[in-house]
Amino acid sequence: MNLKNKKILLIIGGGISAYKSLDLIRLLQRKGCFVKVILTKTGKKFVTPLSISSLSKNKVFEDTFDEKNNGKMDHISLSRWADAILVLPTTANLMSKLSRGTANDLATTVILAADKEIFLIPAMNVRMWIHQATQKNFNLLFSFGYKFIGPIDGEMACGEYGKGKMSSPRQIISYLEKFFKKKDYFKKKNIKAIVTTGPTKEYIDPVRFISNESSGKQGYEIALELERLGVKTTLISGPTNINYSKDIKVKRVTSGKQMFDIVKRTLPADIAVCSAAVSDFKPLIKNKNKIKKRLKFNEIKLEKNPDILEFLGKNNRYKPKLLVGFSAETENVINNSIDKMKEKYCDMIIANDVSKKTSGFNVDFNEVTIIDKKGNTHKIKRNSKKFVASIIARKIMNSFLDIKKNLN
Ligand code: C5P
Repeated sequence: MNLKNKKILLIIGGGISAYKSLDLIRLLQRKGCFVKVILTKTGKKFVTPLSISSLSKNKVFEDTFDEKNNGKMDHISLSRWADAILVLPTTANLMSKLSRGTANDLATTVILAADKEIFLIPAMNVRMWIHQATQKNFNLLFSFGYKFIGPIDGEMACGEYGKGKMSSPRQIISYLEKFFKKKDYFKKKNIKAIVTTGPTKEYIDPVRFISNESSGKQGYEIALELERLGVKTTLISGPTNINYSKDIKVKRVTSGKQMFDIVKRTLPADIAVCSAAVSDFKPLIKNKNKIKKRLKFNEIKLEKNPDILEFLGKNNRYKPKLLVGFSAETENVINNSIDKMKEKYCDMIIANDVSKKTSGFNVDFNEVTIIDKKGNTHKIKRNSKKFVASIIARKIMNSFLDIKKNLN
């Protein structure tokens, strides 16, 4: 039911399991999907374009630049057409190419240019799968945001037994059904999220300001991931160097007060994630002109900035169904974060140890612990902010569904 009218782009790689793609096409169509297929050069050694086109009722795409295609660029149009992209079988060689960002045929070019969810479905001999090189590529691809279905344990075409066997077409269908069920639910119910990110700048005069360390990357990645999961997300961002994707609505602000005002204007929201490093204090007055060095100037009077997270948590009228805070700490990270979660009435807090130079501020990597109201903790080891965001977003959406279930 959940797959009805979904557009699936299937990329067939060069492994013996490619023959299972025919079964998958049939199952997808029975579920009401539209299927288009890209056949790689090595995939063609295992299945023929004729059998695929007879089943999919569509032409099979093979070359990067198809002269018969009236100048339309397949590598862009195919991914824009699709709701999801499946790569089956994903061979060790294909994983290696994707982890390097190779784009030397239609399949790899489409994957690199894609703006959709990509599911890699590996199949290879157990030794190839557990090889350090493949595992390194697996982790890297995961951190790039690719989703993996399988591989599973089982007997392989070569006669050996172990992990590396491709998930069956039925398992793949069941995975996709779950994925689209959630995504469609959030879309249909028009679930809205606000994510705050970045630092704020509190000006002393036209050139000087007080601010916090923050690149805004973690919040941005969380917002992107929520949007990908079907949640209508608004990112409210302080000044950052990020080149924001057009896939997401971004409202830019400078000061904490502006961020607070825009958050209020964007409410109501079902979910709010406050990851911004809002400056706790701001100058009481902003000098109209640049303060001169020669003038006697030895104090800046400060006042408190509004605490957006606390406002959302304490104010029943505005409280989102799920409120998530961030907690940057340098010591006693977990306990301090739990205290903060209680103080600000959050449902979940993401504890961030910012004492390490290799993760956290201004780098692409992060290491966090997700803590919920029930006291459950989930540590995410050092990984890319994109990967960390995908885990946080999944946790957020599962908690949101739990809350909804309890309310109904
Ligand atoms: O108390 P502390 O600033 O450490 O709390 C951090 C959490 O509070 C983060 O989620 C941050 O986004 C939020 N916060 C806020 N508005 C402020 C200060 C912090 O939303 N003025």
